[in-house]
Amino acid sequence: MMNDSHVFHRTAGVVPPRASRGEGIWITASDGRRYMDACGGAAVSCLGHGDPAVVRALSDQAAQLAYAHTSFFTTDAAEDLATLLVRGAPEGLDQVYFLSDGSEAIETAIKMAHQYHRETGCKTRHHVIARRQSYHGNTLGALSAGGNMWRRASYDGLLLPATSHVDPCWAYRHQLPGESDSDYGLRAAATLEAEILRIGPDNVSCFIAETVVGATLGCVPPVPGYLRQIRDICDRYGVLLILDEVMCGMGRTGTLHACEQEGIAPDILVIAKGLGAGYVPLGAVICAGRIHDAFVAGSGSFMHGHTFVGHPVACAAALAVQREIASRDLLANVRLRGAELHQALSDRLGDHPHVGDIRGRGLFLALEFVEDRAAKAPFDPRRRLHRALRDTAFDRGLMIYAMGGTIDGQQGDHILLAPPYTIAPAEVQQIAEVLTDAVVSVF
Ligand SMILES: Cc1ncc(COP(=O)(O)O)c(C=O)c1O
Repeated sequence: MMNDSHVFHRTAGVVPPRASRGEGIWITASDGRRYMDACGGAAVSCLGHGDPAVVRALSDQAAQLAYAHTSFFTTDAAEDLATLLVRGAPEGLDQVYFLSDGSEAIETAIKMAHQYHRETGCKTRHHVIARRQSYHGNTLGALSAGGNMWRRASYDGLLLPATSHVDPCWAYRHQLPGESDSDYGLRAAATLEAEILRIGPDNVSCFIAETVVGATLGCVPPVPGYLRQIRDICDRYGVLLILDEVMCGMGRTGTLHACEQEGIAPDILVIAKGLGAGYVPLGAVICAGRIHDAFVAGSGSFMHGHTFVGHPVACAAALAVQREIASRDLLANVRLRGAELHQALSDRLGDHPHVGDIRGRGLFLALEFVEDRAAKAPFDPRRRLHRALRDTAFDRGLMIYAMGGTIDGQQGDHILLAPPYTIAPAEVQQIAEVLTDAVVSVF
């Protein structure tokens, strides 16, 4: 639709429907149409829309004190949220740096790792290793770390040269027939060790990975033991491990942090999206106490900072979000409803000739589509299948997160579901029903 909008929209010149109200899992547009938000936008709205406790906390904080620059003040909201986050964080993580979104938080984590090495006397460690087909954000540092070739292609020449990429851990496509999970995990992790040795261990600052890969691969968890191997390799070579849980963290997979299910702790954990649940833009870096100690004992200041770091209204809203999730035991609902949704999708679409894989954890699920199930052959990308699926579902009032380039940035199609943690059993069935209808209709 073209009109007189002055907003630079995602698809330039194309104005999407105007969202005017949100309630629970529903968004209502200005023309009265209702859409079921089965993907939380982009795995953001984990409490659903219009939660009164969060709205109250947000407006109370705005009335009391909307903003105080962190070079002058700290606030109760920032202090209380940091304390709550550290209490729930994996062992050893002790200090929180607040940002305004996931990309800023990833930039911060990369820079924190870089400066940490300098504070501890190593000036050569600057190289960042990440994985192919990962996504870490759209600012230049985060995009440089990201391994999705399609997203990187437009910025050729502008990305950081000291980055490189190793294999993801993706059993559906890379585990060999007859290969055990542990052998596959070892083989995938070995690509990191080989890359560290190629670059030279004294030159590598950090390895960054999504615990469960979100947007670009579609909810791919690691095989058991893979991240344990990664942790050991990082320790062996003094490389900091950054886990990006911007999308998969803060309860989305059924535990507060996805890495809890892997039995490891990173040196730096990055969170965003579900932290503020869409009520406010907020991201955070939670770092190990020893990293913070190095700054205190060293230069005393992190050469970093943004105007809206630790914004009181954002912190107050996130504090209310996290209290709601804990007091209503919503992670139990994530596990229960997640299992139901997985089952409902498998029942309806598990045998569909073009559904190659149904995967994920908790309320973080994806379907990968293939032309040929046996060969796992993708559709011709020119067909833009994921777009057709998204548009068809949207026409039926269902919001799903659809992405192409699953395999190599070009080929492959998947769709991702990430409904609110508050979802009811009937809504789970409704998502499966409408999605099935959309899939059948597209094929
Ligand atoms: C894993 C991951 N990291 C980082 C980001 C960037 O976050 P933001 O879009 O809030 O900048 C995203 C966004 O989708 C993400 O999924």
